[in-house]
Amino acid sequence: MSELVLEVRNLSLAYGATLAVKSISFEAFEDEILAIVGPNGAGKSTLLEAVAGLHMAREGSIAFKGRSLTGTSVFRRRLMGIVLVPQDENIFPGMTVRENLEMGAFRTRRGNVKQKLQYVFDLFPRLKERERQMANTLSGGERRMLAIGMGVTGEAQLYLIDEPSVGLAPRIVTKVLESLKTLQRDTARPIVVAEQNTKVLHVAQRLLGMEAGERRFFKSVGSLSQERLKELYLGLCEREREA
Ligand SMILES: Nc1ncnc2c1ncn2[C@@H]1O[C@H](COP(=O)(O)OP(=O)(O)OP(=O)(O)O)[C@@H](O)[C@H]1O
Ligand SMILES: [Mg+2]
Repeated sequence: MSELVLEVRNLSLAYGATLAVKSISFEAFEDEILAIVGPNGAGKSTLLEAVAGLHMAREGSIAFKGRSLTGTSVFRRRLMGIVLVPQDENIFPGMTVRENLEMGAFRTRRGNVKQKLQYVFDLFPRLKERERQMANTLSGGERRMLAIGMGVTGEAQLYLIDEPSVGLAPRIVTKVLESLKTLQRDTARPIVVAEQNTKVLHVAQRLLGMEAGERRFFKSVGSLSQERLKELYLGLCEREREA
């Protein structure tokens, strides 16, 4: 049986008086990619950030490997192996690609760092070619790869990856999403990924559909046809289209 890694129960999150996430429940197992899908403003980032410890719950709970995270700091969660790759720029622009990856490995056992770097370079050969290039001179796609790579060098127990494909060309989107599949398979760690690109349907095992902070569905990808999945996915943006 696959191990339960993350358990989110009736979680509500707010910015001031505005609820951004409304009583969301889901769980993630070690052998899966779980995609959080939904239109802009659905609450995807807020939810991932809360798991990483950046927002306090208004209500509900988050447990990691059976242990409640209530009161656990961002730093402590990172030490526990909860690695967030944020949606916004989160690389060190004045450092080289290699130095950025080494920063990601700040808690990785020294003996493992070399092997981790090699793994990232195998996953993203483009980064190997640019190992000594300054991060601020990378293209958008290369930056996303670097941001993910920094998570990968960090001995994660759980990856939280926010919109890895945002702003990327279609060919690169496929590459980046396929790399998540490889990463999940090789590490046997769960990946919870927020994504708006429908290509995520080809790599995820389960989908959490969100709209306006609410859970609209939670489905196993294997149980549905690609047509039905696309229907569900597009249905999430109904209100947006009517507006
Ligand atoms: N710092 C903040 N202060 C106030 N409201 C916020 C803040 N950050 C986000 N929100 C609001 O919370 C809601 C959810 O935002 P969130 O960024 O989680 O959505 P998202 O699903 O990640 O959207 P996107 O696809 O655009 O990244 C939105 O209505 C947003 O305006
Ligand atoms: Mg977001």
